[in-house]
Amino acid sequence: MITLISNIKELIQVEDSPKKMVSGKEMKTLPTIKNAFLLIENDIIKDFGNMKDFNNISVDNVVDASGRTVLPTWCDSHTHIVYAGNREQEFIDRINGLSYAEIAYNGGGILNSAKKLQTISEDNLYKQSAKRIEEIMQLGTGAVEIKSGYGLTKDAELKMLRVIKKLNNNYPITIKATFLGAHALPFEFKNNKSGYLDFVINEILPVVAKENLAEFIDVFCETGYFSVEDTERLLKAGEKFGLIPKIHVNQFTTIGGVQIGVKYNALSVDHLEEMRAEDIEVLKSSNTMPVALPSCSYFLGIPYTPARKIIDAGLPLALATDYNPGSTPSGNMNFVVSTACIKMKLTPEEAINAATINGAYAMGLEKTHGSICRGKKANFILTKKIPSYGFIPYSFGNHQINQVYIEGVKI
Ligand code: NIG
Ligand code: FE
Repeated sequence: MITLISNIKELIQVEDSPKKMVSGKEMKTLPTIKNAFLLIENDIIKDFGNMKDFNNISVDNVVDASGRTVLPTWCDSHTHIVYAGNREQEFIDRINGLSYAEIAYNGGGILNSAKKLQTISEDNLYKQSAKRIEEIMQLGTGAVEIKSGYGLTKDAELKMLRVIKKLNNNYPITIKATFLGAHALPFEFKNNKSGYLDFVINEILPVVAKENLAEFIDVFCETGYFSVEDTERLLKAGEKFGLIPKIHVNQFTTIGGVQIGVKYNALSVDHLEEMRAEDIEVLKSSNTMPVALPSCSYFLGIPYTPARKIIDAGLPLALATDYNPGSTPSGNMNFVVSTACIKMKLTPEEAINAATINGAYAMGLEKTHGSICRGKKANFILTKKIPSYGFIPYSFGNHQINQVYIEGVKI
């Protein structure tokens, strides 16, 4: 089945051959074609170009995109979408003055979500999570990474990962799974962190690998959670099973997480609200993508990742939501792109690059996602009638999406 999208006001993020990522000054450039066409065959982009160069071939479908912009769907490289219930009460507690750290210390936070997840049935967990997947597809996300880490027991971690796999099988959105067994220390191991790490490494990890339930491994490398040494142990163990690191670092404190990520060739280091000069420096000689999560900063009222410093140092940057019940109960990439412009001073071009091609790289999907390129997945957003692509971040708190196509399917 061949579909022609014709008379596109502006076709955004076009490329003739897939690039890996965009870095530094390059991020200010967003290649576009005005008055364009886009031709898709089944789930793949077949061709694109200027309307005047379109050779009249017979097609099954024509969508007239007059006045509309077309851009690749968002690539959300960091989420915790599979979770049970919510943490509304903690939201109220924070409004009333408790800090995120105080709530976690009193048994709330990640352990609160783990308690809920351990008792929920796999079916119910699937249903709750599927709703969120449907919601983010409507909001223009075409590829997403999802982490485990709210299970913290063998059964519950595997339950989460099986739900992630089932979601990937049942929806057109591409889903990448990450094993985050070391997200928090379960109550039973309160005084025995190394015992918990042994358990994760010897009991859960081999099953995750054997059943092919995750491609990536994550650790919450943070003061009060897992140290740099703990992180190194886990990444080493993951490496033996071929799991690639994508880790939580520098959210509240700088303890050397970026360095350990780079040492183990992490695909990405995520959060980075706190950055020292040496953290930026070490990324320069790596293939590791720095990932900022501005909705998390917004919701928790913590500093924003110093994105300007990162990009101005010549580095790439990706943007993701961090969708989770505690620090970011939102999977809206449109809001992330706006917030990156408003609070982190990215230009619209930089923010769109960060949320498309660089997000794809941060999931190992840059060959198939993240741009309008012949042979890549037919994943794109058709906007409402807007004056220019800059209107997408400008109209914050809203979205400009008219239709979303994922793998050639209208959502
Ligand atoms: O990325 N920081 C660690 N993990 C999640 C939040 C966990 C939670 O509060 O449930 C994050 O922000
Ligand atoms: Fe996270």
